Amino acid sequence: MRRLRSRVASLVLPAGLLVGGALASCGGDGPPVIGDAPVVMVHTDQADIDEGRLDLEDLIERGRALMVASFNTLDGAGRPESTGLGVPRPRREAPDNFNRISGPDSGSCFACHNMPRAGGGGDNVANAFVLAQRLPLVNFDGGDGDGSSSQTLKTVGNERNTLGMFGSGFIELLAREMTADLHAIRDEAIALATDTRTSVFLPLASKGVPFGWITALPDGSVETDRVEGVDTDLVVKPFHQKGVDVSLRSFTTESLNHHHGMQPVELFGDGIDADGDGVVNEVTRGDVTALVIFQATLPVPGQVLPGDGRARQAVEQGRELFDAVGCAVCHVPELPLNDPVFTEPNPLNPPGNLQVGDVSRPFRVDLTSEGPGPHLKRGEDGVVMVPAFTDLKRHRMGDALDNEALEQNGVPTDSWLTRKLWGMASEPPFLHHGRATLISEAVLAHGGEARESRDAFRSLSHDERAALIEFLKSLQVLPEGEDDLVITARE
Ligand code: HEC
Ligand code: HEC
Repeated sequence: MRRLRSRVASLVLPAGLLVGGALASCGGDGPPVIGDAPVVMVHTDQADIDEGRLDLEDLIERGRALMVASFNTLDGAGRPESTGLGVPRPRREAPDNFNRISGPDSGSCFACHNMPRAGGGGDNVANAFVLAQRLPLVNFDGGDGDGSSSQTLKTVGNERNTLGMFGSGFIELLAREMTADLHAIRDEAIALATDTRTSVFLPLASKGVPFGWITALPDGSVETDRVEGVDTDLVVKPFHQKGVDVSLRSFTTESLNHHHGMQPVELFGDGIDADGDGVVNEVTRGDVTALVIFQATLPVPGQVLPGDGRARQAVEQGRELFDAVGCAVCHVPELPLNDPVFTEPNPLNPPGNLQVGDVSRPFRVDLTSEGPGPHLKRGEDGVVMVPAFTDLKRHRMGDALDNEALEQNGVPTDSWLTRKLWGMASEPPFLHHGRATLISEAVLAHGGEARESRDAFRSLSHDERAALIEFLKSLQVLPEGEDDLVITARE
């Protein structure tokens, strides 16, 4: 297998070959490969990115190809001797090397992230069983693979609906700035406490979003028991519905191994066959960067207004009601971003993922002018308002949304990151588990910190509720190639 890999590595994958997951294997400059062949014919070298030999368009095209590629055995798909966390397990051969619950569970990212197109959300058929990837093989036979004989579908993993990545470059940048703000407040509290030799109690907030309080003690230590909606390290993690992942990159490297058994070099090492499938260097650092840049530059969602005058009026009224009944307290209509230049890698990447120090210079994309449009624009002060309808904060959401058995990263089971509402109407079904097929069902399931707001929604007149829903229906991922952020639906 290794020999085949080096033979085909010289072939050039023509841009645009990989469309919609249906692939033909062929070479660009070289002779066509007859018969079985890997799908990824050319890997991207991070050095080519660092030294400017690949431009943004090349990277996006390569990233899109990887997003839709249905990885196969010759690419290194599958992980016979490794769990989805990369821990060794007893060897599994076909057909026990694939598992819809503990993974590898699918051929491509696109298999799940496909609504309304590559990089988007997914139907319930594409739900993932988050955390089940820690187990060797979930088949409920009570054997080693399940970890214990008392497992049920609920206890092996948390079934979650697929999120879309449109606009995610802006989301990652907002989180980086919010983290910097919170860290600055923590540092200020520590400096004050050590200078004045008294305890200092400061409110934590960034971009108008409150995150509780921090106490610094005279010895320079901090107490974090009154921190709210963010981990006690004060790093705003905008990904995963639990708010536990800091970057597109760390999500991507984990997904590659978890869902596909494609092992990124940056997590497993150069030339190392950690999963025992006979293939090494399955996903290079440059491949991951391309996948990240594709996701980070996916255009922001916009608004599709109904053509009918009465429906359009309802959208306007619904937007006002959204504020009036308190939805906007959590689904903050827009957050200000000071610097819209996306840089990869993220300085806060967890260990194992590519670090800023690993590259000669980070790759830079100005999200207000580069990549596919339409683009958000800077205001006169240079600030970009990002209309994602979230505060990037976790909230306790009450019993109806507290259905999971497993705590993820210590986050209570009833706590969720405020769901971004931009683009939501293009990515049904709704809520973390995808069990709401109507927008109203999603709203009525709110409780906990959102109880008052939900009750206010419930007390609206029938027409007012309908108007609010009509507004949410207008929040859509725009058709590809669209120039404007707000368009009118074609009849
Ligand atoms: C089996 C379905 C499935 C596959 C395959 C899959 N994902 Fe996902 N993805 C999900 C689900 C479900 C979530 C939401 C997880 C959660 O909230 O806990 C998600 C979330 C994400 C997120 C975070 C989005 C956000 O806003 O929080 C990123 C980034 C992502 N996936 C990237 C990828 C990439 C890259 C691949 C391919 C290497 C991939 N995914 C393959 C189902 C899938
Ligand atoms: C206390 C904060 C908070 C308030 C207030 C709030 N929400 Fe939410 N909203 C959330 C969180 C958190 C989620 C994710 C819940 C989940 O998936 O379990 C969510 C999810 C949603 C969803 C599902 C979106 C999707 O794509 O699945 C919709 C729709 C929604 N909210 C609308 C509203 C409306 C309308 C209001 C006002 C009546 C409102 N929310 C008030 C926090 C809030």
